[in-house]
Amino acid sequence: MITINEHYLKLEASYLFSNIAKRVSAYQSTNPDKEIIKLGIGDVTLPLPPVSVQAFHAAVDEMSNEATFRGYGPEQGYLFLREAIAANDYQARGADISAEEIFVSDGAKCDTGNIQELFGPEIRIAVPDPVYPVYVDTNVMAGRTGSCRDQRYDGLVYMDCTADNGFIPELPNVPVDLIYLCYPNNPTGATITGDQLRKWVDFAKDQKALILFDAAYEAFITDPGIPHSIYEVEGAREVAIEFRSFSKTAGFTGTRCAYTVVPKTCLGYRADGKAQSLHDMWHRRHSTKFNGVSYPVQKAAAATYSPEGRKQVRELIDYYLRNARTIRNEIASLGYDCVGGINSPYIWINGREDSWAFFDRLLENSGVVCTPGAGFGKCGDGFIRISAFNNYTKVQLAMEKIRAALG
Ligand code: MLT
Repeated sequence: MITINEHYLKLEASYLFSNIAKRVSAYQSTNPDKEIIKLGIGDVTLPLPPVSVQAFHAAVDEMSNEATFRGYGPEQGYLFLREAIAANDYQARGADISAEEIFVSDGAKCDTGNIQELFGPEIRIAVPDPVYPVYVDTNVMAGRTGSCRDQRYDGLVYMDCTADNGFIPELPNVPVDLIYLCYPNNPTGATITGDQLRKWVDFAKDQKALILFDAAYEAFITDPGIPHSIYEVEGAREVAIEFRSFSKTAGFTGTRCAYTVVPKTCLGYRADGKAQSLHDMWHRRHSTKFNGVSYPVQKAAAATYSPEGRKQVRELIDYYLRNARTIRNEIASLGYDCVGGINSPYIWINGREDSWAFFDRLLENSGVVCTPGAGFGKCGDGFIRISAFNNYTKVQLAMEKIRAALG
């Protein structure tokens, strides 16, 4: 008899965004004439930057010629891409990260989900609430939690992120070993300062804990005082792993390219207390379970670091940030409290009612799809998230419809 991993039975029946997609398609099939504007899942709509398209085409041509054809690439990613990442995303900001510490992958979702394989079954895990569901669900699947009661899994330490603390959690007042942080935050759009981040780095050092820092939305930071990387904080190389993605930055949600930084100085501990390189472990995991991102995709990603590429990426980001500003201003003018939308593509809105009820009301009365805050955790109850990823004209139309429905 083939038995199953019973921990899966503790999960919600379907993943948040699959659940929303099902509801929207059920609504669309009963209302076929209704125009639906999707501001739910953070999925980009603008095409790839032209430099990436050219690099992609050129690399496909190379693959069509025996003299330039490439088979398996290096599992960790081609050096041309890792060097461009290290130089532009880290060294240029004074963060001491080298190409050997970068692992190119097909997504930050996969990496933030898979990284927990490196850690012991008994570790104490702190997650923000609201939270990107992948951090929680993958630990549930791995058996590190009890069952879910009242939107929270037994065994996890939930760190409330509320308007009162500016959506930055307090340091846990119980010992923890693994801490998930995401800034600019998904879903709230809140950002963290260097001083606030330093407290977390010091705390992790003190506890011999590890921070998993999800920086997938760093490109949306416009305020020069906000750190783009946890490695801008001194000492973070010993206690933090960082995740980044080309998805939201350069429109790669359908093309797939991301990377994870595991510094060589970053440590975990064996049962006997002896230090263990997490870089070596992730390298072992990556080379065993992953065969690398395709050559054309890595070429397309590397092209974003050329001077022209950087300009084109900036234009993409600015386009979505204009959407974000429009949404934020409109929602605020309707009298709702909101955060995000300034250094982030997400606007987190206090809807002052059950967030699934608000979701349904918005869909039915305006045809606009948002994400109910409750899907991100208990502290998301009463909130909705609106994403700025869509065409500007559609965003304007969505705001008109929302104003008519709620104004
Ligand atoms: C979101 O909408 O939260 C993101 O698109 C999810 C993701 O990147 O996987």
